[in-house]
Amino acid sequence: MQLNTVKQNISQSETLPADFYSNTKLWEAIKEKVFAPSWQYLGDQQQFFGGQETIYPITLLDKYLDEPLLLTKDTEGQLHCLSNVCTHRGFLLAQHPAKDRKITCGYHGRRFNLEGKMEFMPEFKDAENFPRPCDHLHELPLKRWRQFLFTSLEPKIDWDEITGELDRRLSFLPLEHFRYAPAYSTEYMVHAHWALYCDNYLEGFHIPFVHHQLNQMLDYGAYDTEVFPNMNLQIGYSSVEGEHFDLPPEHPDYGKKITAFYYWIYPNLMLNFYPWGLSINVVRPLNPSLSRISFITYLYDEKKFLEMDAAALTDKVEREDEFVVEGVQKGLRSRFYKTGRFSPRREKGVHHFHSLLQQALS
Ligand code: FES
Ligand SMILES: [Fe+2]
Repeated sequence: MQLNTVKQNISQSETLPADFYSNTKLWEAIKEKVFAPSWQYLGDQQQFFGGQETIYPITLLDKYLDEPLLLTKDTEGQLHCLSNVCTHRGFLLAQHPAKDRKITCGYHGRRFNLEGKMEFMPEFKDAENFPRPCDHLHELPLKRWRQFLFTSLEPKIDWDEITGELDRRLSFLPLEHFRYAPAYSTEYMVHAHWALYCDNYLEGFHIPFVHHQLNQMLDYGAYDTEVFPNMNLQIGYSSVEGEHFDLPPEHPDYGKKITAFYYWIYPNLMLNFYPWGLSINVVRPLNPSLSRISFITYLYDEKKFLEMDAAALTDKVEREDEFVVEGVQKGLRSRFYKTGRFSPRREKGVHHFHSLLQQALS
């Protein structure tokens, strides 16, 4: 299926076609061409290695990329992201987080060090040309921004460009004091294609229609979107006194009453910074009509979080979003809907997303 409806000029462009969201060949192509080359959020360094553990197995995008990975902390304290699959016959190496000095396969005893180097294999004395480089564990790039870890299966996106923009606007925040709050973190199952969830996130256009309570707190007229390579930012301005960031004079937005920086990082990560802390959203594709959305909350100013009733508001806004996103999922089945158009003023973020998808898939 050839995608060609998205034009560079938003004033002339159409959206991605309805078929994009249901075509099974595209679903597979998105995995290889959109997700595999992208940077994926793994979690918080503290969450993995805050205790004694030296190995921590994870699955990258369970049920979609479904890649078994192993985070390790070597004897020097360096972190690594390795394949969690034994190079002998493919057994899964670690099943649980553990404090081990070596990674030993439970099937036939092949042993690796914490950097993924194969060190020992029983009964292989007569094997010729062994070990070869491919008998060590594949190591993936492991990137860090503050306490957050990321990896990519086949990196093709400039990581420094992304963190450069995050630093430019967020370095005034003491992120090292942000604390993970499991009590306020949750997951939502949404009966819609993952990209529809992102489409909706990427515009504030629907706020006055869909989020009445949120709309009272935001200055809709000032709401803005800035586009960067492989990421974009929506800025929410406060219409309520005292509920905005205290920006220092050297900040690019100094003097503005900003209440939220909503960063979207291609293709499926959202970093929402508020005066009370951070909400990370990871959009996890499950099938073309089902997605799991992780909401991971970090508190900085708990008093403000409680005062603003942020937990209840976030949940309300999420359910309102699910209602429209699931409605679109159903609407796209119609034989009469092919593509739509963009509001040049209000849908820059969605246009950016659709442009990136079309480009990656053509
Ligand atoms: S599969 Fe790991 S040693 Fe055989
Ligand atoms: Fe929304």
